[in-house]
Amino acid sequence: MHTYSSQGILVTFEGIDGSGKTSAAHALYTYLKGRCPAILTREPGGTEFGKILRTLLQGRTFELDPKAEYLLFAADRTQHMQELVLPALNEGKIVISDRMADSSYAYQGYGRGVTPAMIHAINQWAMQGREPDVTVYVMISYAEARKRLGTRNEQKTVFEREQEEFFERVAQGFEAAFALRSPESIIMRVDGHQEQEQVHTEIIRLIEQYLTQRGLL
Ligand SMILES: Nc1ncnc2c1ncn2[C@@H]1O[C@H](COP(=O)(O)OP(=O)(O)OP(=O)(O)O)[C@@H](O)[C@H]1O
Ligand SMILES: [Mg+2]
Repeated sequence: MHTYSSQGILVTFEGIDGSGKTSAAHALYTYLKGRCPAILTREPGGTEFGKILRTLLQGRTFELDPKAEYLLFAADRTQHMQELVLPALNEGKIVISDRMADSSYAYQGYGRGVTPAMIHAINQWAMQGREPDVTVYVMISYAEARKRLGTRNEQKTVFEREQEEFFERVAQGFEAAFALRSPESIIMRVDGHQEQEQVHTEIIRLIEQYLTQRGLL
């Protein structure tokens, strides 16, 4: 599926809630921005439309059919790709996205039980066949992630209120999603239990190496 039609690089951050994605994506962006054209975005919520969907999806207090939930994430993804990600890649930028298609495969597919093959097909359609060039997978135990979320001063989302079995399925879902990638699409697994600074340094070093190899740094 990978077309290589665009010159930019798509880097996604994946992992369970509280694994450290947002802080790491931010650290990578801060490192890259003085060195090359880069943008930091997220799913859901990378566009104006997406912000409305994010509030709806994460803060809702009503029951939502898992398929309906997935299709809202897919709508966010479709708009995000078309409006922001693909244009930036076409301009040669490095696009860093805090979550993307693998999260749907893991959360709505393995977590909530929506048919994974449907999610995979719709994800590819939403992304216009573009795969991430690199996915940074921040790996962490449920217990450690839970501890961190407990200290974070934010309202818990519907997902963060889920139990351990849910996150075990989500972790399996991430691995299953990665197994579907074409060989050119790289998965960088990082141990999220390390000190925050160590996690960030490791990610920056890995991405720096990758971009240097591709002649972009
Ligand atoms: N390596 C680390 N060690 C200790 N604390 C960390 C580490 N990385 C992040 N944190 C802290 O843990 C909390 C969760 O991190 P962060 O918000 O980056 O996770 P996330 O993966 O983006 O979570 P979510 O999926 O809920 O958005 C934050 O308070 C953050 O400051
Ligand atoms: Mg986050």
